[in-house]
Amino acid sequence: ARTAAVIPAAGRGVRLGPGAPKALRALNGTPMLVHAVRAMAASRHVSLVVVVAPPDGEAEVKGLLADHALPDRTDLLVVPGGDTRQESVKRGLDAVQAVQADDGIDIVLVHDAARPLVPVDTVDAVIETVRDGAPAVVPALPLADTVKEVEPRTDGGPEPVVATPPRARLRAVQTPQGFDRATLVRAHDTVTDDVTDDASMVERLGLQVVLVPGHEEAFKVTRPLDLVLAEAVLARRRA
Ligand code: C5P
Repeated sequence: ARTAAVIPAAGRGVRLGPGAPKALRALNGTPMLVHAVRAMAASRHVSLVVVVAPPDGEAEVKGLLADHALPDRTDLLVVPGGDTRQESVKRGLDAVQAVQADDGIDIVLVHDAARPLVPVDTVDAVIETVRDGAPAVVPALPLADTVKEVEPRTDGGPEPVVATPPRARLRAVQTPQGFDRATLVRAHDTVTDDVTDDASMVERLGLQVVLVPGHEEAFKVTRPLDLVLAEAVLARRRA
C-alpha cells in the first residue's frame, strides 16, 4: 500500500495580512510550504508529494522546493491550483491519478500547507487507520471554546444566536486527512457542494468518516499570532 500526499498551497492567506501567498512565507527562514512537504515526506509510507501551487506561482514553487532537501524515496510534483481549495485539491488528485497506475498508490492524504508542523506520528496514525479499512480518516482535537451557531450578519450589528451544540460532542479537525484513493476520487467526481474539508465530501457519499487523535502542533497558521506560535514551536524543537 503506497501513499501520496496532496498539499493545497494555492491560497492567498488574506487573514495573515498583506504579503506573499501564505505557503511561501517563511517560518524561521524556511518557507511554510517546505516545512509542510517535509512533514509529509517524514512518513516512510509516503512515496509521492503533490504540491498545488498558486496558478501564477508554479515556477517559483518549483525553484523553492529544488533549493531544499527532501528524502530520496519521495517523488515530488508541482501542479497549478484553482480558485477554491476544493478545486486545488481536485487538480492535485488528477496528478495522483495520472501516476497511480504505475506506482500502485492506494491511499491519498490531503494536507494544508498552512499546517507546517504536524508531527509524523499523527501522519502515520492517519495512514494506518486507512490501511485498516476506513475510507476516510481525520485527525481531530476536542475544543477549548464553546461554539455558537448564529444567524450571520454582515452589517456589523449584533448576531443572534441560533443554537449552542454541546461542546463535548464537537471536535476541531486538522489535516492530513487520509482517504482510500478511489473513494476520494469518487467524492470529487460526484459532490459539488462547497465544503471546508475533504472528509465532508466522503460523508456526502454516505460513507463513515472516523477520527484519530490530532496534535496541538498541527494547528493552522491563519492569523499573525499563529506565525509567532509556529516559530516558537520550531525554536523549541531545535533546542
Ligand atoms: O483558506 P484555508 O485556510 O481554508 O486554506 C487551507 C489550505 O488550502 C491552504 O494551504 C491554502 O493554500 C489552500 N488553498 C488552495 N487553493 C485555494 C484556496 C486555498 O490550495 N484556492
